[in-house]
Amino acid sequence: MRENTFLGRTLAVIRDFNQEERQYLFNHTRKLKTALEEQNREVIDRYRIDDSDFGIYEVFLEDSTRTKESFKNAAQFHRIKLNGLDVVHSSINKKESYADTFNTLTGYQNRIFVVRSKLEGVCRWLEDNGREFARRNGLPVAPSFINAGDGKHEHPTQELLDEFSFLEQLNWDYSQLHIALVGDLFHGRTVHSKVNGLQLFDSVSVDLIAPPELAMPEHYITRMQENGFRVRVFDSIEAYLREGSTAPIWYFTRPQLERMGDDILKRQDELRSKIVFQREYLDRITSDTKFYHPLPRHKEHPTIPTFLDDTELNGWENQSINGKLIRIVLLSLIAGKIGSDFTLAKPLAQETFDDESFLEEVEIDQTAPVKQYAEGVNPISDGIVIDHICRGDTEREIREHMARIISVLKIYGKGGEWVTTSHMTEDSIKGIIFRPGFPGFDAKQMKQLAAITPGSTLNIIQNRRVVKKLRLHTPPRIYNFDTISCRNEACISHPSNGESIPAEFYRIAGDIFVCKYCEKPHTFKEIWK
Ligand code: NCD
Repeated sequence: MRENTFLGRTLAVIRDFNQEERQYLFNHTRKLKTALEEQNREVIDRYRIDDSDFGIYEVFLEDSTRTKESFKNAAQFHRIKLNGLDVVHSSINKKESYADTFNTLTGYQNRIFVVRSKLEGVCRWLEDNGREFARRNGLPVAPSFINAGDGKHEHPTQELLDEFSFLEQLNWDYSQLHIALVGDLFHGRTVHSKVNGLQLFDSVSVDLIAPPELAMPEHYITRMQENGFRVRVFDSIEAYLREGSTAPIWYFTRPQLERMGDDILKRQDELRSKIVFQREYLDRITSDTKFYHPLPRHKEHPTIPTFLDDTELNGWENQSINGKLIRIVLLSLIAGKIGSDFTLAKPLAQETFDDESFLEEVEIDQTAPVKQYAEGVNPISDGIVIDHICRGDTEREIREHMARIISVLKIYGKGGEWVTTSHMTEDSIKGIIFRPGFPGFDAKQMKQLAAITPGSTLNIIQNRRVVKKLRLHTPPRIYNFDTISCRNEACISHPSNGESIPAEFYRIAGDIFVCKYCEKPHTFKEIWK
């Protein structure tokens, strides 16, 4: 039998399922939806896992109706073993780690976990941790983790059902999407999942409608633009309607009061007035428009008022109904019940990390006049010089960063630090660290040096001559150092959460890195504690 690529998969972020895989999931969801409408038993049964030993666990550390109950109803459809952790009375309240809690439940023959938490990146971590637990204990399949919403980060299963619902409206045309995202774009994880999720469509226009206090974070806007989306920004529905050309798909979200600080909470009425749809706007939108909402709506202050329920604008009820269907099919795939006929039309480019590429040896011309680095008035006879540090930054930034380099690499002792004019670019300055008598670095320290001061050079000096010169480049991945840490306090790996998870970063562009877990961007300087 062919290997089923869906079997045992984790869905931590929407990109974990690529475009073709999602299309495959949607095609099956369409088939199941039709079969359920027609009560075609034979087709319906093809999707059922139908195994009372197959365990699925819901672990919801934040409130939920739709996500939790649709997974529960999906599990009942499958006739599998369904449990929900009684979080309030669990040992999580005795400061047990996520790792220990989930390992325990995995050991009771549970294969899929549906997890909602305020901690971001939790499923990515649990996936790694679960793989190790399965290996240690000889489990045939490592557990899968489905992210049911992690803080402000992502909500990939909501994204799946949203995309499915949009495609129904678009009559399965993937060629273009024009969508307005309205409401709390700052805290809303369902709209954050759209930043990569909407790449499903060939051409994408996104109109962002939110007052500045609830605006989409800048790094998400940048990512959307990098993904090729056309992005427009408006601070209210009024301003959007004045612009003309409105989208046929409006995606509303709720102001997430529980995640707001007191200052914003005090102004909630004023902020809400910018993102609530008013009766008088009705004749200013096109007749093919549909409204969507991940729900819940606030019963007193809904962004989509209830007078719209019985109108053609109502796309949110069908969207909510789709939630259970999408989740049924997702479980069928991860359990390996369907999916073995799936093959990728376009093979995926494998991400490889050349861990050695950060060091480049610069040839030294032994016949050239001897370049001497001086320590005060005396030439250095033996030791190291780190040159070209933070070239182009301000003096203060350079000095701060040199202090960071010294403390991270623990290169204390004799020597000094200077800020001086860069010969390479006359109008900029750079930092230099001198350490006479310093023996040099081992491989791990070299990588650390490259990661903390990319763009600099390391000179090894013996008998007053530079005997080795290395140019340091940013490594593609920074990990395995206890001196690095994610800056996002909501990240599962942040030290304040006490989960003892080693930080890890990937370079996405230039000197920008993202945390492996919460995906928050960091400059290389911010990574170091
Ligand atoms: C959303 C969530 O929890 O992220 N709801 C949902 O899952 N359907 C949106 C919200 O809470 O506003």
